[in-house]
Amino acid sequence: MFFTPNEISFPQDLESNLELIFNKYKSTMSEDQLTNSLQKLWPLLALEGGVSEKKSEHYSLDKKLASAYMMYYLPINCLKAALILDELWLTHGMPLSQLNVLDLGCGPATAYWGIAWWAKMRNLKLSYHGWDQSKIFTQLAYESTKHSAFQGNLSFSSEQNSISQLIRKVQPNLILFSNSIGEIAPNHEEKTNLLKQLLEQKNSPYILFIEPGTKQHSRALSNLKDHFLETSPLLPCLSRRPCGALTIASDWCHEEVYIQFPKWIEDLGKKINMKKSAMIFSYLLYGKHSNPLLDGSSRVVSQRLERKGQWECRICTEKGKEFIRVQKSKINEKTDFFPKLGRGDIWLKYTAQEKGDLVEKTLWESQQKSLFEIR
Ligand SMILES: C[S@@+](CC[C@H](N)C(=O)[O-])C[C@H]1O[C@@H](n2cnc3c(N)ncnc32)[C@H](O)[C@@H]1O
Repeated sequence: MFFTPNEISFPQDLESNLELIFNKYKSTMSEDQLTNSLQKLWPLLALEGGVSEKKSEHYSLDKKLASAYMMYYLPINCLKAALILDELWLTHGMPLSQLNVLDLGCGPATAYWGIAWWAKMRNLKLSYHGWDQSKIFTQLAYESTKHSAFQGNLSFSSEQNSISQLIRKVQPNLILFSNSIGEIAPNHEEKTNLLKQLLEQKNSPYILFIEPGTKQHSRALSNLKDHFLETSPLLPCLSRRPCGALTIASDWCHEEVYIQFPKWIEDLGKKINMKKSAMIFSYLLYGKHSNPLLDGSSRVVSQRLERKGQWECRICTEKGKEFIRVQKSKINEKTDFFPKLGRGDIWLKYTAQEKGDLVEKTLWESQQKSLFEIR
């Protein structure tokens, strides 16, 4: 979860590099071909979860659909991993000088761009291996990252390796599934088998799953987490606790980070009737070092809602999800922060009365600054 209720800016140097790639590939197809491909992609991704009955008909194996994916979904999704890594940096620290990433189901190297930008800003060396079933995607990944202004020892492959073979070869300290676990391991049993295998890795790499913020995808991740309750993720959950959202069938836990996307992406979105003003996603991050200071703390897991003379939010606690409110008529110096409350805020301690009336809270604050500029 990201620590701001405010909109962030798309990093300028990243935007310039992505615009060059966008323009290069735009010249390979007509505007109609691009919009038609994006209109075909949306239901395949959003309604069918990217899983096709016939493997040979998968969108990743169609050159036009794959290029269209790169031109639109890459800029939309590329910063998600970077946001999460920065959150890890701020909450737990990251005792590394080099990031060695294995990106499984890398597509056109979507996550590389955000991670490469982030690694540069945090002064980390980067080595990156992307793997995908689709040669078309790994070829696009290779061609487009050739012009990357960011550092990185990069490689891509699409051989039919097993994940354990890839891990042995790459020796990653970060294993990433960016919008791909739902396709690589569609059902719960496949996901739990995979995570079991990853958690048994000797050098305990960070394991990061990022999924769309839909109810279906987010609940699948929460179910996966709850299957391994003895192993606490580092984020977004702050200690070993069953997911509070799973107790209500209609609920789910997801992130929403407002962002001003580049104009050329907004223009393309308008042509296909898609307006994106936020990055909406769910995630799960495992790693070896926890921050004991955060154990047992609570986390704001909703927006701040305003209605009937009061502000409200939901927080995730060790006891489950709790309703918290501040009545405007009773606001005082301990609760007047509420209008600036952010999704993801961490409360080390809090006291509330019956009906959820907040008395006070102790906010956790990082010693360091986030890399994401608030607009
Ligand atoms: C929705 S795309 C995500 C691409 C990229 N990671 C992103 O965030 O934009 C899912 C990717 O998973 C890949 N994929 C699906 N099943 C796979 C499998 N069994 N092995 C390797 N890659 C797979 C697809 O080819 C596709 O590139």
